[in-house]
Amino acid sequence: MELKDKVVLITGSSSGIGKAAALKFAQEKAKVVVHYKTNKTGAQLTVDEMKNWGAEVIAVQADVVKPHEVKRLFSEVLKAFGTLDVLINNAGLAKPKPFLEITRDDLAEEFDKNFFSMVYSCQEAARIMQKKDSGKIINVSSICGLTGCTSILTFTSARSAVTGFTKALAKILAPNIMVNAVAPGFTLTRFWDKMTDKEVKELLDSTLSKKWVTAEEIADTFIYLTKNDSVTGQVIVVDGGYTTNI
Ligand SMILES: NC(=O)c1ccc[n+]([C@@H]2O[C@H](COP(=O)([O-])OP(=O)(O)OC[C@H]3O[C@@H](n4cnc5c(N)ncnc54)[C@H](OP(=O)(O)O)[C@@H]3O)[C@@H](O)[C@H]2O)c1
Repeated sequence: MELKDKVVLITGSSSGIGKAAALKFAQEKAKVVVHYKTNKTGAQLTVDEMKNWGAEVIAVQADVVKPHEVKRLFSEVLKAFGTLDVLINNAGLAKPKPFLEITRDDLAEEFDKNFFSMVYSCQEAARIMQKKDSGKIINVSSICGLTGCTSILTFTSARSAVTGFTKALAKILAPNIMVNAVAPGFTLTRFWDKMTDKEVKELLDSTLSKKWVTAEEIADTFIYLTKNDSVTGQVIVVDGGYTTNI
């Protein structure tokens, strides 16, 4: 897909990976919808940076765990740009909790944030994309969904669900709407802010590349998947070789 003038919605683009992606798509001259939940300032800074380059961009607030807010988000995209070509389901958050303390509410909360929200967004996107039989959907998963991260078990479980869902949706929406997942490894964002230097060293030593993945490298993977018209139903792992060590 040629990206110039295409409409791209990136959920959770007020910071981190989503923000890096918004900037990359704007550099490709796409029309970008920056989405946020609480970080209005972060969203505005992202928008301002893109507007300095002459990009067409809007910011929309929505809590993606609420289906009616997801509907409003998509209707605001249509109101501003008339269509949607690319959806990147990036919003999400992991909450650590020991296995034996996990309650049904914890599970429901993590699945709401890290899986159900994606399903709602994919339904709204599919309604728009099926009308023109064209589009790209990328769901952000995690290496946790592939290897099993013991401290964030509920997040791990939700992101495992993303793999099967992505593959099934790729079949449902084929041949002209392509659906993939990206599984980031240890990517330097605010998610890791509270770690000590010792913990960071241990974490990075467990990778082959011995370094953080950058948010820009994940964003580059989104750009690759969006431009490519032959990859669908895949989980692309960007983890500095971490999963080869498991
Ligand atoms: N960093 C890593 O190492 C890593 C590894 C694997 C997977 N991931 C995944 O990559 C994605 C981006 O994470 P990040 O590291 O870039 O962290 P981040 O900077 O904290 O970004 C998370 C984004 O998700 C948004 N968000 C969270 N809950 C939301 C909700 N209920 N409704 C709407 N938006 C919501 C946040 O919005 P507000 O701040 O505006 O509220 C924020 O924009 C997440 O899905 C994360 O699980 C990250």
